[in-house]
Amino acid sequence: MKSFASILLDWYDQHKRDLPWRHTRDPYLIWLSEIILQQTRVAQGMEYYLRFAKRFPTPLSLAEASEDEVLKYWQGLGYYSRARNLHAAAKSMAGVFPRSYEGVRALKGVGDYTAAAICSIAYQMPYAVVDGNVYRVLARVFGISIAIDSPEGKKVFMQKAQQLLDGKRPGDYNQAIMDFGAMVCTPVSPQCDACPLAKRCKARQEKRVEELPVKMQKTKISSRYFHYIYVRQGNNTWLHKRGPGDVWQNLYEPPLVESQTPEENWLAGAAYKRLFGRRKAMLKVPPVKHVLSHRVIYADLSEVDLPSSCPVAEGFLCVSAKEIPQYAVSRLVQKLLEKAKVGI
Ligand code: ADE
Repeated sequence: MKSFASILLDWYDQHKRDLPWRHTRDPYLIWLSEIILQQTRVAQGMEYYLRFAKRFPTPLSLAEASEDEVLKYWQGLGYYSRARNLHAAAKSMAGVFPRSYEGVRALKGVGDYTAAAICSIAYQMPYAVVDGNVYRVLARVFGISIAIDSPEGKKVFMQKAQQLLDGKRPGDYNQAIMDFGAMVCTPVSPQCDACPLAKRCKARQEKRVEELPVKMQKTKISSRYFHYIYVRQGNNTWLHKRGPGDVWQNLYEPPLVESQTPEENWLAGAAYKRLFGRRKAMLKVPPVKHVLSHRVIYADLSEVDLPSSCPVAEGFLCVSAKEIPQYAVSRLVQKLLEKAKVGI
């Protein structure tokens, strides 16, 4: 009987996606593609990869750029710690991408999964990747019911993946199982009729395809209510650079007031008064819903008119509205500014 790995590799040789980072052996570019693909689908990541690789073709070019510029290139991709870590890691390389697994694993922002992907693809090292696609394919084909987010489950899947790895073509094998999970063994409506593993698939035999993989915890989603205030001060506006502590660290945004509930009268609250006293703010963009992995944010945008004599509040930059596009902002802020037709 043909091995699991050779069936997957045969499938890959016929059906693999033609992706730009598959035409290079440069570990730096492969690292770049894997960081982009950590939390982003291939279709969305492609354009970012091409722009990044063009502007920052070497570790040195990335290390020498400013963090603001790197974040600007990342704008819209989300999970901005990836961009900050990418930049910090490039600075730590002194122009040379690490050659050992330990060296790659020690880079900021590189975990077990990413180190295995980079080392197998760039250096043909025998490290198996385990991502969401791999969990799904293995759980189904081998009928594994243990929860993928339990410590025991993680160990079982890791061992299974490592045992199945093709030692001659580890990089292709890893990419084959990822493509296969993304194109055939999909979370919903998998293409079992076109699946080269269908005959040996335990989940299919036991009619459990929809049930697998099993996950213990549902991600808890909390809601937050943001009220952005666009300042119109002649041709200028105010921006704040977010401090450390959350996913939008070091991105820019207009003044922001948060409320605990959607009903709260935040315009009468201390946070608004500290910035704008009794000045009226006019609602420009009603609440939009912005979904992040653990959070739903409802955000609106109001506008306040300030005379030019009014001093800029502490912690804010006063910039020409025309210059807003030069600053890296979150996708949510970009969406609100576009809707308000200001600065973009
Ligand atoms: N997802 C993350 N890395 C990938 C790769 N190299 N190929 C396909 N999907 C991926």
